[in-house]
Amino acid sequence: MTEIETNQRDSELFSPPSNVRGMTKLDRTAFKKTVTIPVLKVRKEIVNKLMRSLKRAALQRPGIKRVIEDPEDEESRLVMLDPYKIFTDGSFERAELSILKQLNVSPQIHKYNLELTYENFKSEEILRAVLPEGQDVTSGFSRVGHIAHLNLRDHQLPFKHLIGQVMIDKNPGITSAVNKINNIDNTYRNFQMEVLSGEENMMTKVRENGYTYEFDFSKVYWNPRLSTEHSRITELLKSGDVLFDVFAGVGPFAIPVAKKNCTVFANDLNPESHKWLLHNCKLNKVDQKVKVFNLDGKDFLQGPVREELMQQLGPLSKERKHSVHIVMNLPAKAIEFLSVFKLLLDGPPCGIELLPIVHCYSFSKDPNPAKDVQQRAGAVLGISLEACSSVHLVRNVAPNKEMLCITFRIPAAVLYKNQTLTLENQDDPPLKRQKTDKVFSEEKTQMASVTSLEMPSPSPH
Ligand SMILES: C[S@@+](CC[C@H](N)C(=O)[O-])C[C@H]1O[C@@H](n2cnc3c(N)ncnc32)[C@H](O)[C@@H]1O
Repeated sequence: MTEIETNQRDSELFSPPSNVRGMTKLDRTAFKKTVTIPVLKVRKEIVNKLMRSLKRAALQRPGIKRVIEDPEDEESRLVMLDPYKIFTDGSFERAELSILKQLNVSPQIHKYNLELTYENFKSEEILRAVLPEGQDVTSGFSRVGHIAHLNLRDHQLPFKHLIGQVMIDKNPGITSAVNKINNIDNTYRNFQMEVLSGEENMMTKVRENGYTYEFDFSKVYWNPRLSTEHSRITELLKSGDVLFDVFAGVGPFAIPVAKKNCTVFANDLNPESHKWLLHNCKLNKVDQKVKVFNLDGKDFLQGPVREELMQQLGPLSKERKHSVHIVMNLPAKAIEFLSVFKLLLDGPPCGIELLPIVHCYSFSKDPNPAKDVQQRAGAVLGISLEACSSVHLVRNVAPNKEMLCITFRIPAAVLYKNQTLTLENQDDPPLKRQKTDKVFSEEKTQMASVTSLEMPSPSPH
């Protein structure tokens, strides 16, 4: 029997009673149902031996014991059998009959009235029985600590409180169910949410890649689907490197990177994120390694980042071996912030290998999302990034909408104001221009060799 057939079969006999259809307030007592099950009467001392040979015929249903006490005889037990396989004593296979004979068990089938209750149904069976027939009952959610974060569709909304309660009942550790009530389009990227059932308290604790984060989920951004991306970026940094995290949230890039003995400058405009970022740095014992700021990303880049870069990349930088990374995870807007890098620094440019490496996130609905992101980022910087950047596909956010990360070194010709001052013959303007162009094209060639192209194939969604 195929899995689909098994599910269909189970859904008839083992589905909640039909009178729960349309229920909006959860009444667990309404889920009681009695089904008649074939059983074998056996002596209690042979149960274990027998069960090993009756795997095919025994009832297999989560939450239901296959062997129960016999209400009429305390020396015997009732073995529940699958009503779709065993109808009469003639339904046993030859090997099963032979074992029954060996153990001196009569193959005679008895009937047992098994009471199913709310506890015996899975969440999907409950929702399929309650919601209007033929409508999608998908009950998936993102888990954030003790919170189940649902994204209900319109037809599910009349049942939202019941759905929330079922999620809590059927998922150990979940004590609160919330529904997203708009898309994340507010500045701080936190979800507007409605508590459907359970605890109102949105203060939660999560573990990601071995680190602990505490925060109020109603006030800050947290997405459990980014854990792989957080560890991908963390892997790129080595001990001694410097990270500037422009849109740091509560610390999922900053904290693991700081643990690798890197220096981290982490910033977030949301005062609540800033508060929990500070808290999480202490919680994970990296507060000595992370400098935390509460600024607009542009001010952070033009202030503390610029100041630090002037030092890190200044004249003493020749002895330095470490890399400087700048992470910009605000996919709806980060590309616009790239303009801040234009002519940000004064003085003679540093060596190419010391130029900061940017990891900038973006959404794209373009059929060629990698090229789209390269072109948009390049347009803001006034250069072509196609030959000297890599693009990583982070995740599919919605049908035809991808989240991507573009990585590139900021060219000195973009980053430095007086790029040409280092060149000879500065008093000859046409030559000066030529030399600047030459520097940029040499940089491009060298940068192409330091970043690999990692173009995603078009999303399957
Ligand atoms: C998509 S979240 C990313 C958070 C974190 N990096 C992560 O991976 O979970 C973007 C963060 O940027 C912050 N943010 C939004 N606009 C900002 C701005 N103009 N300047 C600085 N931070 C900003 C939000 O408060 C939010 O925490």
